[in-house]
Amino acid sequence: MKVQIFANDQQVAQQALSMLNEVVENNPTAVIGLATGSTPLQLYKLMIEHKDKYRQVTTVNLDEYVGLGEDDVNSYHYYMHSNLFRHIGIDKDKTHLPQGVGGSLAKLCQDYNRLLSNNRQDVQILGIGSNGHIAFNEPYTPFDSVTHVVDLTPSTIADNSRLFDRIEDVPTQAITMGISNIMASKSIIVIATGKAKAQAVYDMICGQVDERCPASILQRHNNCTVLLDQDAGSLLPAHLDNVKYIA
Ligand code: PGA
Repeated sequence: MKVQIFANDQQVAQQALSMLNEVVENNPTAVIGLATGSTPLQLYKLMIEHKDKYRQVTTVNLDEYVGLGEDDVNSYHYYMHSNLFRHIGIDKDKTHLPQGVGGSLAKLCQDYNRLLSNNRQDVQILGIGSNGHIAFNEPYTPFDSVTHVVDLTPSTIADNSRLFDRIEDVPTQAITMGISNIMASKSIIVIATGKAKAQAVYDMICGQVDERCPASILQRHNNCTVLLDQDAGSLLPAHLDNVKYIA
């Protein structure tokens, strides 16, 4: 695991963009794993400025809420369309997210898992939850999990309620890539910004590899880079062999 700490979140996004650009310059039809939430928004703005590079990629997203269709403004389908896909002009058939409606949950999970088997990510963009989750793999999710339905924890529902009118509107379940689907990516870029992530970042990098902190498994990936701003990296010890401070 390589860790780079930047002066601010803009520089974090810029570095993530440089890394993604390199992937698509080498392979214009690369499979890129994407994430939702607040953290990647700056990266997506920068990708839009480089949209010609991203027109031919295939994308696979981490997760979707159960019960929200793609036209629902709170769905991750809608988020991806409005924050990235429509600006890039990417063919919709090449953009994939788990479906939160339209069949039995078991079938929706199986379908997405099959799709992932046929579209292994060249690079996966990943955020981290304040409880150490990656995608919606909450603490104690087995490391060998594949796409599955999760009951969201109260802390995740509370974190995500800022995007909804009322906390009661936050779905209580989601379909998520499993941890082994994430680990299958050839490379992983984790981005984390802000003080609220500092403890989870510490546990991911310095803690034991343990299902209590799902992100800790990333220590075992052979090509994982963590990009942090100073707040997110504020609990890391001053001397870590794998940490590069870029202020
Ligand atoms: P955030 O979510 O970017 O909105 O903080 C990250 C996550 O929960 O994985």
